[in-house]
Amino acid sequence: MRRLLIAGNWKMHKTVPEAIELVRELKELTADVDDRDILVCPPFTALYPVRRELEGTNIALGGQNMFYEEQGAFTGEISPIMLKDVGCSYVILGHSERRHIFGETDDLINRKVLSATEHGLTPILCVGEKIEERESGETEKVVERQVKEGLRGFNPENEFVIAYEPVWAIGTGETATPELAQEVHGFIREILSELFGKEKAEKTRILYGGSVKPENAKGLLEMPDIDGALVGGASLKAESFSKIVKFDREE
Ligand code: 13P
Repeated sequence: MRRLLIAGNWKMHKTVPEAIELVRELKELTADVDDRDILVCPPFTALYPVRRELEGTNIALGGQNMFYEEQGAFTGEISPIMLKDVGCSYVILGHSERRHIFGETDDLINRKVLSATEHGLTPILCVGEKIEERESGETEKVVERQVKEGLRGFNPENEFVIAYEPVWAIGTGETATPELAQEVHGFIREILSELFGKEKAEKTRILYGGSVKPENAKGLLEMPDIDGALVGGASLKAESFSKIVKFDREE
């Protein structure tokens, strides 16, 4: 059985005091949750203060990006060693905003994925098609390329997570239907099976992201190949994020 992972990607939101307030509320609201993994990915400036708040809780910490080198003359970049140092166990890589706003390529993302793993971070590799790719029937081709290129040379003894985030569903309020998302998740699991064998594919978590809200979380998370969520907007409030974490509880 795969353990659910509910992750919040705060993107470029929250000052340090705001981040502390959010995480204080969140840890109270999720203190009774121990049957699934919870992760928050604050902006770099809030990682350390948030980590201090998280000590002794069941909430993990992740970065939203990193460069693949350990250190050096790379102005503006953050290294895997720095993320580890500050208490991260996960790092989001290849987010569609990195791909489409900052021009990250599959090759660059692949280097980052390998480096994250080498340094003991679990990469969350994001993949997903744009609206025009979906409309022209290219969803599978795009997703297959992003998964295969992103994981090139990956040693399957290590853990990784995939996040399927259709670009047209990110921040738009338009969610993929559970059935549509399940179809792509099933396809991704087939690719993982082809790459690393069935056993590894069955163990690997595939998250859905794109306008996940308390109202639609249950339908998505009950699908057989959807093993969690990568939440943007709704992770910025403790109340809505904790409702997604507890999507299957009556409260
Ligand atoms: P929204 O939940 O705001 O659509 O963002 C999704 C996302 O990009 C998470 O990484």
